[in-house]
Amino acid sequence: MRMSVLGAGRVAHHLAKVLAKQHQVIDVYSRRLSSAQQLAQQVGANAITQVQALNPEIDLAIIAVSDQAIQSVISEVAPYLKDVLIVHTSGSTHLDVLSHIHPRAGVFYPLQTFSFESQIDWANTPLFIEAKHEQDQAQLLALADQISQRVYAYNSEQRLSLHLAAVFACNFSNSCFAMAKQVLDAQQVDFSLLYPLMRETTHKATQHDPKQVQTGPAIRGDQHILNMHQQMLMGAKREDLQQVYALMSQQIQQQQ
Ligand SMILES: NC(=O)c1ccc[n+]([C@@H]2O[C@H](COP(=O)([O-])OP(=O)(O)OC[C@H]3O[C@@H](n4cnc5c(N)ncnc54)[C@H](OP(=O)(O)O)[C@@H]3O)[C@@H](O)[C@H]2O)c1
Repeated sequence: MRMSVLGAGRVAHHLAKVLAKQHQVIDVYSRRLSSAQQLAQQVGANAITQVQALNPEIDLAIIAVSDQAIQSVISEVAPYLKDVLIVHTSGSTHLDVLSHIHPRAGVFYPLQTFSFESQIDWANTPLFIEAKHEQDQAQLLALADQISQRVYAYNSEQRLSLHLAAVFACNFSNSCFAMAKQVLDAQQVDFSLLYPLMRETTHKATQHDPKQVQTGPAIRGDQHILNMHQQMLMGAKREDLQQVYALMSQQIQQQQ
């Protein structure tokens, strides 16, 4: 397939690189030439900063820009890619956002956390496909099958629920790791001492119902410890962490 990528961020980087192994990436579009060039060089594509410069002789355009920019980017590119299948990669953007503007619309959503720093295990990354037309859906499913062993045809409502769940499972838990690091940094204690605990927590949560394997002072109802931790955070003038601690402890106790 001949394809182009719009956006040169985290998802664009990882997706363009895996697709370029079997397909031809024609253009990489980004607002800044340096970003477009950085990715384009890695996948043998042209770097462009104007949508008018897009080569229309492609089978697929992948829009991997920030969620709030998806609609405006689609509106901009659609007139230049009239017969081309255009997909976005967002968990929380309904297919209608695209299909209202462009008839050959689809979604190619990877349920994974992408950073420039880390490698992606594509074979085990679930890919969620949706398309306005059956033929386009079949084409996207076939493409996804080349990358991952876990490919699903889900509708927008299902995908939106997955993304909401992913915010809890990934973004919030990572933010908890960051808060834990701040607590230790304040006492010059090495954060890596928590790694075995963090790994076991994730492992256990994937082997059992997470609610059943909850541990800690909140689930035990150990009020003395809960109070002491609140005092420690107050002493450290971390009112923000105090609030998170109280809300999370309450949530754990309500889950019982
Ligand atoms: N990161 C993840 O873990 C992840 C996982 C699954 C799906 N997604 C989805 O993938 C999409 C891209 O996410 P990302 O994490 O790759 O984002 P990102 O790293 O923040 O990159 C966003 C890209 O969008 C471009 N952009 C922003 N506003 C724009 C505008 N008005 N016009 C044109 N380009 C614009 C940025 O260009 P500049 O460099 O010029 O700002 C950048 O290239 C989103 O829909 C997101 O929900 C992300």
